[in-house]
Amino acid sequence: MDLSDLEADAKAKLEATFYDYIAGGAEDERTLADNQDAWDRMRLRPRVLRDVTTIDTSTTMLGARVSSPVAIAPMAMQHRASPDGPVATARAAQATGALFCMGLFGAGSAAQVAAVPGNAPRWLQVYVMADRARSVEAIARSAEQGYGAIVITVDVARQGNRRRDARNRWTFLQSDGQVEDPNELFDHALTFDDIAWFAERTPIPLVVKGVARGDDAKACVDAGAAGVVVSNHGGRQLDGALATADALADVVAGVDGRAEVYVDGGIRRGQHVVKALAMGAQAVFVGRPVMWGLVVADQKGVEGVMRGFQDEVERAMALCGATRVDEIDASLLAEPGWNRPRG
Ligand SMILES: Cc1cc2nc3c(=O)[nH]c(=O)nc-3n(C[C@H](O)[C@H](O)[C@H](O)COP(=O)(O)O)c2cc1C
Repeated sequence: MDLSDLEADAKAKLEATFYDYIAGGAEDERTLADNQDAWDRMRLRPRVLRDVTTIDTSTTMLGARVSSPVAIAPMAMQHRASPDGPVATARAAQATGALFCMGLFGAGSAAQVAAVPGNAPRWLQVYVMADRARSVEAIARSAEQGYGAIVITVDVARQGNRRRDARNRWTFLQSDGQVEDPNELFDHALTFDDIAWFAERTPIPLVVKGVARGDDAKACVDAGAAGVVVSNHGGRQLDGALATADALADVVAGVDGRAEVYVDGGIRRGQHVVKALAMGAQAVFVGRPVMWGLVVADQKGVEGVMRGFQDEVERAMALCGATRVDEIDASLLAEPGWNRPRG
């Protein structure tokens, strides 16, 4: 799998403004770059001489079986990446046994995605709108539609300052041609009390996405969240925020086993996935690579990306001597200073 080539192919096909919208981050794109660098900086201590004839990459996310710990992150504007974007992504997820988290904002119809047959779980991501009735309605419908969890994204108190989008005069055009401004639509008064309010009223588990600290993660779990996603929105919101790989340990400690912890941002290799799991994540989400796959070859393109990740996770597990996902533990990570003389 070469995701840089895939991105180059997608770039060649796309309108420059839309490429920038997907690829870009906030301000000087430091956090965007650091997300991937932080996974690359970490080092593994592989185990050898384990029988790794058969590797099982499958795991569960909130109790539902998935073929590997790599899930598809929610992304707006999939309908502009391919006319059939969200449905093609959902089909690819089902074909590869991966969890797809459908993003409701500007990404297509939750009902159409729900109608794609298959056993892999799907989740629905929502923003809490200033017009709360809209969010409540979408959440109420989601359980009937067969979504397994609601994901509320909380790192958008303001839209990030995306310089490329400002230069390009980018606008959020919905599939019906309407322009939407997130700064006007989203509820900026959201607190942990609102998370508790939604958790009480949501018939399916609630996951909070966009958490960067252990204390916040603990407060989300106290408010009723069944999971948290360590995320900085792919470096698109607060530039200068720490990389998700560097935030993960704090969040895992804050949650203390009371909920599942997921992470996204800059995950581009199977070995990054193994590092995330070794730090205590239950699974990871990938964003942009899925968009590149969708742009280049629709459903087949997304399938290629997900199969590529599965192959790399399988190989990295074998080379780390882990035959099952639950054998990926913290001892596989080299702590800073571990290589100093002992005793
Ligand atoms: C084009 C694009 C659109 C996105 N739209 C949403 C969205 O609607 N809701 C959301 O919670 N996150 C959204 N995100 C953030 C992703 O869910 C995810 O956190 C991020 O892309 C992960 O980082 P990665 O792209 O480096 O894998 C978006 C990301 C991109 C690149």
